[in-house]
Amino acid sequence: MNNKRKIIIDTDPGIDDAIAIAIALFSEELDVKLISTVVGNVSLDLVTENTLKLLTFFGKNVPVAKGSKEPLFQKFEDATNVHGVSGMDGYDFGEPNRSNLLEEHSVNAMRRTILESETPITIVAIGPLTNIALLLKMYPEVKNNIDEIVFMGGSLTRGNKTVMGEFNIASDPEAAKIVFSSGVNLVMAGLDVGLKALVYPEDSQIIKTFGKTGDMMYSLFQKYRGGSFKTGLKMYDSCAIAYLLCPEMYELTDTFIDVETQSNLTLGCTIVDLKGYLKKAPNAKVCTDISPKIFKEWFMKSIKKCI
Ligand code: BDR
Ligand code: CA
Repeated sequence: MNNKRKIIIDTDPGIDDAIAIAIALFSEELDVKLISTVVGNVSLDLVTENTLKLLTFFGKNVPVAKGSKEPLFQKFEDATNVHGVSGMDGYDFGEPNRSNLLEEHSVNAMRRTILESETPITIVAIGPLTNIALLLKMYPEVKNNIDEIVFMGGSLTRGNKTVMGEFNIASDPEAAKIVFSSGVNLVMAGLDVGLKALVYPEDSQIIKTFGKTGDMMYSLFQKYRGGSFKTGLKMYDSCAIAYLLCPEMYELTDTFIDVETQSNLTLGCTIVDLKGYLKKAPNAKVCTDISPKIFKEWFMKSIKKCI
């Protein structure tokens, strides 16, 4: 047994997901036990295909399980405007090796992986929370062996899918509600920090020199519309991995969080009760701010290792 932190990544690649996954796969501190896919940026079939393409590209042997095809109640709306029609436009990965794809549903694969683990597992959720909500509802016994759920999603202020809704949470607000009220340790790395986790053109030029990986990432960056290539690309999902590997980049506070599931106008808006108006006990650690300088140093160092 190694001393690495065991994680499950639940994801919807997604260009920024792809970068976050790469960092996790090459970190000496993390042991990726399973990648679970969820409908989000593009369809479930495409996000699963993209995950397999990444693992094939990096020659990594991690089990992949396919999860939810649809949000719990909401209609699926993709983010092809941000990630392209394939979800990872810009680079030709070729056909992936499909031998890592499990037959079981990802909710069952997560349950098995968590219950079989000798030490508690951390879930890193970087897509809508549909699979995680189902896992916690169907198999509450897993809670005893989950260290924490670190998710990229929500916002202290505005949204990016709707006026007030951040994409991952607003795509499946009912799932987020289940996760937020689950009693499991939660860490929220939301839009507020994601908007400051930027890759600038000069960084991209350096990344381009990082061999085959650099070429792949640079090509994806040309198509990615999470921000702009010229003024800064937003590495939202890397913020969740960064919490595990370099938490000193964050300002954190224990807070009560909830999500709006009723109003048409603000559906999926996260309520982060920093001032304690609701008089509720904290249910999450929230990243309220990030040092862009530390993020950048950590990010560039991490990408360089992805070979
Ligand atoms: C989130 O939305 C998705 O498009 C990104 O992959 C990220 O997980 C940012 O709001
Ligand atoms: Ca994502």
